[in-house]
Amino acid sequence: MILILGGAGFIGSNFVLDFIKQSSEKVLILDKLTYAGNLNNLRPHLDSRCKFIKGDISDSNLIINLLNKYHPRIVINFAAESHVDRSIHGPTDFIETNIVGTFSLLESIRKYYDGLPSSSKCNFKIIHISTDEVYGSLNAGELPFKETNAYKPNSPYAASKASSDHLVRAWHQTYGLPMITTNCSNNYGPFQFPEKLIPLIILNAIKDKPLPIYGDGSQIRDWLFVSDHCSAIRAIMENGRIGEVYNIGGNNEITNLDVVKKICSILDTLIPSNNGHKYEEQIIFVKDRLGHDHHYAIDSSKVMSEFSWSPSETFESGIFKTVNWYLNNSNWLDSVISGSYHTWIEKNYKL
Ligand code: NAD
Ligand code: DAU
Repeated sequence: MILILGGAGFIGSNFVLDFIKQSSEKVLILDKLTYAGNLNNLRPHLDSRCKFIKGDISDSNLIINLLNKYHPRIVINFAAESHVDRSIHGPTDFIETNIVGTFSLLESIRKYYDGLPSSSKCNFKIIHISTDEVYGSLNAGELPFKETNAYKPNSPYAASKASSDHLVRAWHQTYGLPMITTNCSNNYGPFQFPEKLIPLIILNAIKDKPLPIYGDGSQIRDWLFVSDHCSAIRAIMENGRIGEVYNIGGNNEITNLDVVKKICSILDTLIPSNNGHKYEEQIIFVKDRLGHDHHYAIDSSKVMSEFSWSPSETFESGIFKTVNWYLNNSNWLDSVISGSYHTWIEKNYKL
């Protein structure tokens, strides 16, 4: 069986749903269910084969008990605080979960791993899910991030993820924990919490609200449809080499302004407004994010050549599917827009 940590969040729940469609293996999911975790993503699929446990990666008794009880062959850690803007307003949770939580998790796994017979040790591995933000921002003319790039994190979020990557590396080098790290670019798709650019723009557009673009919107991200990230992780979990780092990207470098305009034009086609109004007219330019990284891009050649992996979706096809998903799942959107969501929107977007 496999153990998925943070499996009720955006990427974690997409991973679980894809995995159970493609495999009959048992899945155990642990998640703290912070504001970003949503059990509704998984609930229809929970049964004796796919179980959920509410818990924190920092709870070493719980983690050690689960490892001893279920003996997973793979642990994948998606659990993290993941939103850059929140890390700027309040970094504490990011230090707690991404750094202290990862440290605690590694120590729990080490205690379990040290007690395993060597025949079981060679069938066990841990995949640490990380981000391209650890590499900082590309300057004009610089090539996309390779696994060998120096770490230059700029936001509290990026620094906390960079710290976790360093801990993972050290626990592999020093204690021999069988770790693999992945650093991925921006994901988008179903079940993403609408504090992140793409779902926020779709939600605001259909609710007739302003579409906030930080600064001038010229920042560039490398967008990857979430199921393509999941397929890369599946390839890595089966065939990745222990101790290695794998960069995963979509080869879709697009400015924020163009992303927002693209969503608007899809909405113009799918749900045209009655009064001839174009969704683009809702765009507003707002105060820039502090320390805003201008450009991320990933060189995925290692993962592509080792596993013959490549993304199935172009940005055109992925964003169309994504907009459609949010339009067809307004119940999901309504259910995640809780009281704490409104407090966040007021705090971040006060002009
Ligand atoms: P998310 O915020 O949607 O989900 C995170 C999940 O972790 C939530 O379900 C939350 O409840 C859970 N969680 C938080 N703290 C926990 C704790 N202490 N113990 C147990 N569970 C906890 O994040 P996401 O976008 O799905 O990202 C998942 C991972 O992928 C993160 O490590 C993130 O850094 C990384 N990543 C994300 C992207 C992206 O574009 N979203 C890109 C590259 C890498
Ligand atoms: O690069 C990988 C990272 O991508 C992940 O590690 C993070 O977990 C994930 O949240 C994402 O980080 P970003 O900061 O790039 O994503 P976000 O959706 O918050 O913002 C995307 C871009 O859009 C960024 O340049 C900021 C801008 N933006 C965002 C919001 C929410 C706006 O212009 N307006 C907005 O309202």
